[in-house]
Amino acid sequence: QKGGYKHFMLKEIFEQPMVVTNCLTGRLSPDHKHVTLPELEEMPVPERLHIIACGTSFHAGLWAMYLMENWAKIPTSVEIASEYRYRDTILGEGDQVLVISQSGETADTLACLRKVKEQGAKVIGLCNVVGSSIARESDTVIYTQAGPEISVASTKAMCSQLVVLTLMALFWGRRKNLLTEMAETECLDTLKRIPEHLETALPEMRETARTLARQYSGARSFLFLGRGSCYPLALEGALKLKEISYIHAEGYAAGEMKHGPIALIDPDFPTFALALADDLFPKVQSNLQEVQARNGKIIALTQDGMDLTVDSVWKIPHAWGPLDVFFALPALQLFAYEVADYLGKDVDQPRNLAKSVTVE
Ligand code: M6R
Repeated sequence: QKGGYKHFMLKEIFEQPMVVTNCLTGRLSPDHKHVTLPELEEMPVPERLHIIACGTSFHAGLWAMYLMENWAKIPTSVEIASEYRYRDTILGEGDQVLVISQSGETADTLACLRKVKEQGAKVIGLCNVVGSSIARESDTVIYTQAGPEISVASTKAMCSQLVVLTLMALFWGRRKNLLTEMAETECLDTLKRIPEHLETALPEMRETARTLARQYSGARSFLFLGRGSCYPLALEGALKLKEISYIHAEGYAAGEMKHGPIALIDPDFPTFALALADDLFPKVQSNLQEVQARNGKIIALTQDGMDLTVDSVWKIPHAWGPLDVFFALPALQLFAYEVADYLGKDVDQPRNLAKSVTVE
């Protein structure tokens, strides 16, 4: 069942190349130049988009916000379902709600769906489990096609959500005539190449994660930092680590560090930084200098050509713009996995957690 892997989580991390392929299947025009999403064809482009989700699905939504704003120029808010359901939320005419849920059964997310439907909003569901409550009750549902996810820690489902969210941003950007054909083609070409590229990269990434896990698993607490579209990844890296290794971890927007968390930095409180080759790299670099000035140890997830001198430099391949996420995400997942496994934790069934949270 585990296909020779020690845990379902590891198997599912290694399934991500196939997941990307499956997510793209049937969603490209015959010439592969455009996105086809029949599920959205009948609906207008949202004037504002409200994304609602929990946990890892919330992080996927937060990542998508950068693309929706940048490529499709859709004002986007991303909400934690358990907060949204009890707020006096305001939905304008032309607004649409996107609920993201792997299981399609998360109680708070489902409650939000029912609430906004009562307010007359159109709901798009992004689900993995076919026929789940959220899938059934949404006005239109897009399936992530990731296959069953057994491990409580969600890995390949997030990867599939990111692929579909990328396609949605391209689809809406094109409908608004905001994308040049070149940008769309470049993005889709990159997406199509990711499975092969990732397949080759994953074994080495696992080795690096294993080495780092041995060096850092004695830490009692970890700080994950990122900026821009890497900020949601910092949150996700921290969630994965605490969920399966029980090491306390906090994900933070790197620029917020000086507003409090910097007081915690000392040689026993390591930082895991997302320092990818994007426009914000120089800002992250200077945040890391602030950590180093306080003798904090740093693991930096970065790429060739980036100038960083920190304790542990972990280079991942380049894809294209925000699509580097398809390498950064498994790196974070593998790091958490290797730490938890090294510490002898029950990786697939972490204590106190359930795969789908059907109570509020
Ligand atoms: O099934 P959902 O996507 O609605 O689940 C949401 C969260 O419960 C889930 O992502 C949780 O945070 C994972 N265990 C994280 O790995």
